[in-house]
Amino acid sequence: MVLFKKVEELKAYLAAQRAKGMQIGYAPTMGALHRGHASLIKKSKAENGLSVCSIFVNPTQFNDPADLEKYPRTEAPDMALLESLKNDVLFYPSVAEIYPDNLTIPTFDFGQIDKVMEGFHRPGHFDGVVQVVYRLIDIVQPDRLYMGQKDFQQFTLIYHMLKQMGSSTELVVCPIIREEDGLALSSRNVRLTPENRANATIISKTLSSLNEWLSSHSVQQVKEKALAQLGSLPDFKPEYLDIVDGYTLQPINDVEESPYVVACAAVWAGNIRLIDNIILKKLD
Ligand code: PAJ
Repeated sequence: MVLFKKVEELKAYLAAQRAKGMQIGYAPTMGALHRGHASLIKKSKAENGLSVCSIFVNPTQFNDPADLEKYPRTEAPDMALLESLKNDVLFYPSVAEIYPDNLTIPTFDFGQIDKVMEGFHRPGHFDGVVQVVYRLIDIVQPDRLYMGQKDFQQFTLIYHMLKQMGSSTELVVCPIIREEDGLALSSRNVRLTPENRANATIISKTLSSLNEWLSSHSVQQVKEKALAQLGSLPDFKPEYLDIVDGYTLQPINDVEESPYVVACAAVWAGNIRLIDNIILKKLD
């Protein structure tokens, strides 16, 4: 694996590879890599001649300074995992490389898509995500960009950003990788107390019950039931559970309203915020 810390050096290397006809797959990450990240890199490696991964803990997307400070940084095991996956290129830039003084980033209009759920509860978060992904894509110029369904609203925004840019980069969305007991893998899981880690299965359990509940209850009733269940364990507080149209991310009142229905949840387990989602229905 080749490691780059400087934007210009990475760009020159990738330009030379592109000139040789190499297709580039790219998975941006914030490190503390787990099997979820690995699934993106494996797919990128399988579908492209050259697989690029970046590790950059982006300060502009953390609306909570304590979360940024405590974000796990695990450089040595991350590098070992990437080597074992035979990832080709690692981009590991500093904040100054990503955000030079003269940098300008265009603004995008996401309508209501960034106003709900994570956008509502984490003000400024998506401005930071869009800013960094725009910058990273501008540097890497990948043929394919690999992102996880785990962050449903994030990949939806990036899909719209690419469309508005008129970009030729194809977004490839990869399924959620879970622990055996159902908990969605997240870099933040290591910060859970043992008790909260054990109880965190309540999130995927609740999401998996929704379709059955919807067969005999209204969307509103199901939301109330789910929120009550998510808040039933000590130290667990749901922030939201929304049942939305998977394209517009706007709440729906009836599953018959939409061909694509997704439930997204954010839950506090102590002082750790966990998110998860499930596709309840997707008609072609
Ligand atoms: P990070 O949380 O490190 O996630 C990097 C990528 O891995 C994202 O596309 C995310 O959806 C995916 N991912 C995380 N957990 C996953 C899981 N359990 N299964 C499948 N995929 C999973 O998301 C970010 O970083 C940042 O916001 C970033 C896009 C890198 C911009 O800073």
